[in-house]
Amino acid sequence: MHKRYWDELPKPIIGLAPMEGYSDSPFRQTCKLVNPSLVTYTEFTSADGIQFGGSKLRAKLQFAVSEQPIIAQIFGKKVETFVNAAKFCEDMGFTGIDINMGCPAKKVVKSEHGVALRRNLSLAFQLIETLANATSLPISVKTRLGWNNADDLVDFGIGAESAGANMICIHARTYKEPYNVPAQFEPVYEMRQRVSIPVLANGGITGIEDGLSKLGNLDGFLIGQASFGNPWVFGSPPSTFGGKIPVIRNHAAWMVETKGPKHGILEMRKHLLHYVKGFPGAKEFRSSICHVSSLEEIDSVLNQIAESLSTSLQAA
Ligand SMILES: Cc1cc2nc3c(=O)[nH]c(=O)nc-3n(C[C@H](O)[C@H](O)[C@H](O)COP(=O)(O)O)c2cc1C
Repeated sequence: MHKRYWDELPKPIIGLAPMEGYSDSPFRQTCKLVNPSLVTYTEFTSADGIQFGGSKLRAKLQFAVSEQPIIAQIFGKKVETFVNAAKFCEDMGFTGIDINMGCPAKKVVKSEHGVALRRNLSLAFQLIETLANATSLPISVKTRLGWNNADDLVDFGIGAESAGANMICIHARTYKEPYNVPAQFEPVYEMRQRVSIPVLANGGITGIEDGLSKLGNLDGFLIGQASFGNPWVFGSPPSTFGGKIPVIRNHAAWMVETKGPKHGILEMRKHLLHYVKGFPGAKEFRSSICHVSSLEEIDSVLNQIAESLSTSLQAA
């Protein structure tokens, strides 16, 4: 893949945000089933872990060929391990590499990774520059508005572009702001005026229409939490729960294929709880969902839910 990948992608670019514990291969494939033109990222993966860690960490980067184009998101702060991680990702067939400069998790910030790089701009730009020169893949950066305000966002964008970044995505909240604070897109529009590479925004977007209404001068947007239990946020939802079952069923099958029958089903329970959230009577199925242990049991619970919902609709 070449450096102009982001420039040449049809606009607006719409993507599934990278999310630890969610944007794994089965969920990415599920979202792409609904919208094949979606851009997706892996969950963030430690550059040190790729170099020194075992197969478990590397397994986090596995993807199905049908997922391409796909972006590997890595985090860290050591230039050499980043270069080795980038080469590893290039050999795996990734489309691009994204550097995480937005993660606020205590452990990550304490190790001076993630959003902490926004307080160490010389290292942040050195990482971008080294990676941009070390690989033929396009390099992007995902970060936040800033530490506790957006005052240095424009400077960050200009610095990242001149270091060789090919795209920047801004989670439009500061490090200090919790996820329930409304995202502010104005500073991102301002930054876009000052750089020539594509800029995406992210934060609190509830669907395609909402994203388009906030697009302004930007090149696209990512959707994160609104996709939980709702991959149809990237397309159009079926009118009944029964109509959703084939997609959910595929999600579960990919889980088992990727993570094995035990772990796959255990992890799928979390997604199933999201899939049924908000339906009348969903509560009574929560306990069955929490105990499913095979694809057959998942089928059975899903069919029971669909049946109960259609019966309650008929009765209404
Ligand atoms: C559970 C969870 C895990 C996340 N993991 C990552 C991650 O691995 N890498 C990353 O850049 N951002 C991560 N984020 C941030 C999201 O990519 C996104 O920027 C944020 O959720 C705001 O978008 P939303 O309001 O549409 O969810 C995560 C967010 C959540 C909720």
